[in-house]
Formats: sequence, C-alpha cells, structure tokens
Amino acid sequence: MKIVIARAFGGPDVFDVVERPTPAPGPGQVLVRITSIGLNYAELMARRGQYKLISGDPPFTTGLEGGGIIEAVGPGVSDRHTGQRVILSPDAPRRKDAANPDLGGGTYRSHYLCDAAQTIPAPSVLPDDQLGAIWLTYLTAWGCLDTYQHVSPGAIVALPGASSGVALAAAQVVKHLGGITIGLTTSASKVDALKTIPTAKFDHIVVTHDQGKMLPWHTDIRRITDSRGVDVYFDPVASGEYLNTEIRTLAQYGTIWVYGLLGAPGVVDVQPLIRKSAAIRGWSIGEMSAKGAQSYGPATASILACFESGEFKQHIAARYKLDEVRAAHAEMEKGAHIGKIVLTP
Ligand SMILES: NC(=O)c1ccc[n+]([C@@H]2O[C@H](COP(=O)([O-])OP(=O)(O)OC[C@H]3O[C@@H](n4cnc5c(N)ncnc54)[C@H](OP(=O)(O)O)[C@@H]3O)[C@@H](O)[C@H]2O)c1
Repeated sequence: MKIVIARAFGGPDVFDVVERPTPAPGPGQVLVRITSIGLNYAELMARRGQYKLISGDPPFTTGLEGGGIIEAVGPGVSDRHTGQRVILSPDAPRRKDAANPDLGGGTYRSHYLCDAAQTIPAPSVLPDDQLGAIWLTYLTAWGCLDTYQHVSPGAIVALPGASSGVALAAAQVVKHLGGITIGLTTSASKVDALKTIPTAKFDHIVVTHDQGKMLPWHTDIRRITDSRGVDVYFDPVASGEYLNTEIRTLAQYGTIWVYGLLGAPGVVDVQPLIRKSAAIRGWSIGEMSAKGAQSYGPATASILACFESGEFKQHIAARYKLDEVRAAHAEMEKGAHIGKIVLTP
C-alpha cells in the first residue's frame, strides 16, 4: 500500500509518499481500498503544525475522510462483503492506535484498516471519487444548521467563504430546510462561477473584499434582508471587523455559529448582542463524531437520502492522485478553488 507521511511540519514538500506492507484485517475488521479522500482545511493546518491535538508530532499521516471498496474482510464479519462500496464513518479516521500501528490514523493512504462498524454502505448514486468527500462538508453543515440550529423555512442564513466545500454543502442544506441563502465571498473573481454552478444554491451573493481590503458589505445585507438582518451566520472567518459586521447585521434573536478561524484576530464589539438578544456559538463536527453513531447516525442517513434523491450534489474542484498530494495541498493553499479538492489514489 501507499501512505503519505509528513516528515516534519511545514509546506507541501514535507509530504513523502512511501510504500508499506498492506495489512490484513483481523477479527471484526475490514480493509478498504481507498478511492477518494476529501481534502480539508484542517489538514493544511495539521501539516503546518497548527493542529497538533489531532496530528501529534511528525512523522504522521493526516486525513480526516475516506471511502472506497472493501478489499478484504476479517473473521466474524457478516454484514460487510468484499467489493462493497463504503464510506468511512465520521469517527473512523483518528489518531493512530498506539497498541496496533496498522489501525486508525489519517486517511492519506491507498488502503485503510478499520472496524467493520466504522464503514457505512454507500448509495450507488455516489461515484467512487466522492465516497471520501462527503462528511466533513455535509455533516458539519447538517449537524449545526439542522440538528442544533433547527433552521426553519424562511430563515435568512449567511454563508461566508461561499466557495468553500463547507459553505457549498451548507447552502444545499439550508435550501433543503426551506431557508434563504446569502453566500459571502472574499473573491470577486469567483462570483460569475458561483452564479452558474448549478450545485451552488445561493439566493444572493455578496462580495466582502476588494484585493484584501474589506468593503462596506453591511449595506448589501441591509438591502437584501430589507433591514431585518441575518437570522443565522454559519461562519468560518470569525474575526475583527468581519465579525463586527456580522454582529451589526444580525437580526433580533439571531445566532452566529463560529466553525473556523480563517481570519486574523481583532477587537470585536459584542454590545449589540445584548440589545438583539443574540448569540455567538461555536460548532465542531467533533460534537457529533465523538459521540458515535447514535449521535451522527440520523444526520448521515438524512444526508445520504438527499444524495439518493438527487437534491444534494457535491461540486468537485479538482482531482489529484495520491502521488500528487503536494500539488493538491499547494492548490488548496492558494484558495482559488471552488468546492472540494479530492485525492483519488
Ligand atoms: N468546525 C468544524 O467541524 C469544521 C469542519 C470542516 C471545516 N471547518 C473549517 O471550515 C473552513 C473551510 O474549510 P474547507 O475545508 O471547506 O476550506 P476550503 O474549501 O479551502 O475553503 C476556504 C475558503 O474560505 C474563504 N477564506 C479563506 N480565507 C479567508 C479569510 N481570511 N476571510 C474570509 N474568507 C476566507 C475563501 O473563500 P472565498 O474565496 O469564497 O471567500 C476560501 O476559498 C476552515 O476554516 C475549516 O477549518 C470546520
């Protein structure tokens, strides 16, 4: 098997692709030949040394998602079979199991060994190159906006980082729930594409920056919402003047859900939250994956049903072979992509 090792913290060139013996599944385990690994911003952070809680110290293998085809089943496995297409469950990829070096660890590899129960049978509608590119985007969005926020029909939901994999998934989730979507993008150059990509379900798109400088985008929000403001911000930026504008344009009883920290820290005036009885809350997919299938099960089933019905469709920005992992990270780092970058080993 092939496996990507980060030999140090740093840029994309710290990755080496090395050969290792392919492990055989033990009792209750399956070996999955990986056909798809979704790239996530968290893995850029892990590579840089900004996510040590998950990565540990080098050498390590990063990767939070994966999916593929079962190549071998271990003794005692009766509900999975060779040739079955599966998605690694949200709680499968994790830190290496110290007692069993073949088990667990990041998904940047050609074969993944895990418990059979940590695989979810995939619907036929999902192509092989997307099996490992669903959870981090759709479950992050669904878990927050449906399970916790209960977005209701007519709610106005603003989605910063409109071109990101998570925001594109979130827009589909909000439309499924009957809400109104406003995509916020820092990149004016992406607007035409975002308007024409059929899977980008934004009712409105607002450009927040011009060459790195913030624009007075609160006026766009006032116009679009008829001065009512935004009911829900689902926000991966959460910093300084950007967060101040979100607070200023938040509707009465509104909520800002912070799920990422892309922006640089700055002074924030929370005083309007008092008058608006509004809230800022944090959100992580870990809230569901750490609690196991009883927590994420209903959400993952609903997400897969939406894929089967054709309501959800993932927009793939680019595909790279596992050997091209350095180029894939370099592209993600540039931030010019729209949607999900995938590795297809
Ligand atoms: N909490 C969780 O459970 C969870 C789960 C998954 C992801 N995340 C977080 O979600 C965020 C997006 O992840 P992803 O994998 O979808 O990334 P991605 O596809 O690489 O998207 C990043 C996009 O965010 C926007 N952006 C980047 N820097 C920005 C800045 N300083 N200010 C405003 N916008 C900025 C850009 O979009 P535009 O060009 O359109 O502005 C950029 O293309 C990351 O922060 C990640 O850590 C959190």
